[in-house]
Amino acid sequence: KQTGTMFEAIGGFTTIEKLVHAFYKRVGNHPDLIPIFPEDLTETIHKQKLFLTQFFGGPSLYAEERGHPMLRRRHLPFEITPTRRDAWLDCMAHALVEAEIDEPYRTAIFEKLTLTANHMMNTPE
Ligand code: HEM
Repeated sequence: KQTGTMFEAIGGFTTIEKLVHAFYKRVGNHPDLIPIFPEDLTETIHKQKLFLTQFFGGPSLYAEERGHPMLRRRHLPFEITPTRRDAWLDCMAHALVEAEIDEPYRTAIFEKLTLTANHMMNTPE
């Protein structure tokens, strides 16, 4: 068992599951995001649980199932504009609150995800 990671500090996989469900509930209802996401988010939810587990220092579940993340490359098929980046981050900000991830972790996680979200943009407005 790993200790001292962000993953452990926020409550492990149970908290990741809460966060990811709270997040995709919003994504699935967001007018800017609906056009690029699949209607059935089951697989997307599954992949994001694996990814965020390893992103926050937990076991490398994503790598085991899907290999190297290559996130920017995996996002190239979708037009990710600044508006969509903002929408994604807005859904995440609310999901962090709903999942009861408290400070200082809430801000630390949001800042880490903001850097990655900026890196995912591939289309001008
Ligand atoms: C997949 C959109 C940012 C992690 C996807 C998919 C879309 C998408 C449309 C495909 C869903 C599917 O095939 O199931 C966006 C938008 C973003 C964004 C609009 C705004 C900037 C991020 C960030 C992360 C992330 C910041 C990670 C911190 C992932 C992962 C997948 C994914 C892990 C699944 C990749 C795979 O294994 O196929 N995203 N994304 N995304 N996204 Fe994002």
